[in-house]
Amino acid sequence: MIVANDLTKRFGKVEALKGLDLHLKKGSIHGLIGPNGAGKSTTIKILSTLIHPDSGDVTVNDIPIKRGVKVRSMIGVVPETPRLHENKSARSELMYHGRLYGMGGKELSSQISDIIYSLHLEDVADRPMRGYSTGMKKRVAVALALLHDPEILLLDEPMSGLDPTIRKQFKDIILELNLKGKTILVSDHDLYTVDELCDSVTIIQDGKTVVEDTIDSLRHKTGNIAIELKVSDMMAAEKLSYDLSSLDCVIDVSQNRELVIVKIREPETDIPVIIRMASEQTAILEARQTKITLEDIFMKFAGGYHG
Ligand SMILES: Nc1ncnc2c1ncn2[C@@H]1O[C@H](COP(=O)(O)OP(=O)(O)OP(=O)(O)O)[C@@H](O)[C@H]1O
Ligand SMILES: [Mg+2]
Repeated sequence: MIVANDLTKRFGKVEALKGLDLHLKKGSIHGLIGPNGAGKSTTIKILSTLIHPDSGDVTVNDIPIKRGVKVRSMIGVVPETPRLHENKSARSELMYHGRLYGMGGKELSSQISDIIYSLHLEDVADRPMRGYSTGMKKRVAVALALLHDPEILLLDEPMSGLDPTIRKQFKDIILELNLKGKTILVSDHDLYTVDELCDSVTIIQDGKTVVEDTIDSLRHKTGNIAIELKVSDMMAAEKLSYDLSSLDCVIDVSQNRELVIVKIREPETDIPVIIRMASEQTAILEARQTKITLEDIFMKFAGGYHG
């Protein structure tokens, strides 16, 4: 649906993008993740035709992005810092933008009412936005992006500054939009949320794509589960780490003092094998199973998250 190849973009001396590739598949919720300054917002601005790349190509549904107007009608954007007319109400802001898109009449009013309802804004929609909470303003920004009924939504940190309850509500809104047929690109620093929301991710660092894949497939490469075994001393942990690393089912072993962390794919079959080998060697003081997080995946591919 969107294909971006080898994008570069320079702002004066800063090389914001140095070879960025991205693929957004129809119907997916795709995450764009990377540390501060990695180039996420620059990428989203390019995809939404707000700025032009210095080199590289982007197509949206096979149409080159240079044909701005045609592409813009297919895309709705929620920018990192949405600008709203705070003295207006959400409804009048939406009316104003609708008219800018050349819409009007009863059709526009009823579409706005539908969007307001679907984003749970009906109680506040006719009040000035200066009295809105951060969460309400974010939802107005999504409403604005939805106004011309685009197929694709680009959301740049839509959930930053939201409390956990509102984040959850927002996550449900994004999932619902996806169920209704929207293809969604979302950037966010909360990798836990990205993991829950997205089917696939592009990990970027320093203006370049490090890896792009489905989260399932990345997990398959890094392991699905980590087993943490606490033993009595560092010597025992070192020996155990060494021996466990020779097992076929073990994807990765790391050691932190008396703790041995073993990454595996298949908990049902692999855990008994590991516990057997470990308990034959030494006393296990504690054993714990954790899911491999998207942050673990990020660490493996990008060598650390500093977002
Ligand atoms: N208009 C601009 N003028 C100068 N430098 C810019 C401009 N926009 C972005 N940059 C620089 O380009 C790089 C990438 O910025 P970008 O905003 O795309 O990163 P980001 O991944 O969105 O970061 P964050 O997580 O902080 O939002 C940064 O070094 C930034 O300072
Ligand atoms: Mg940004």
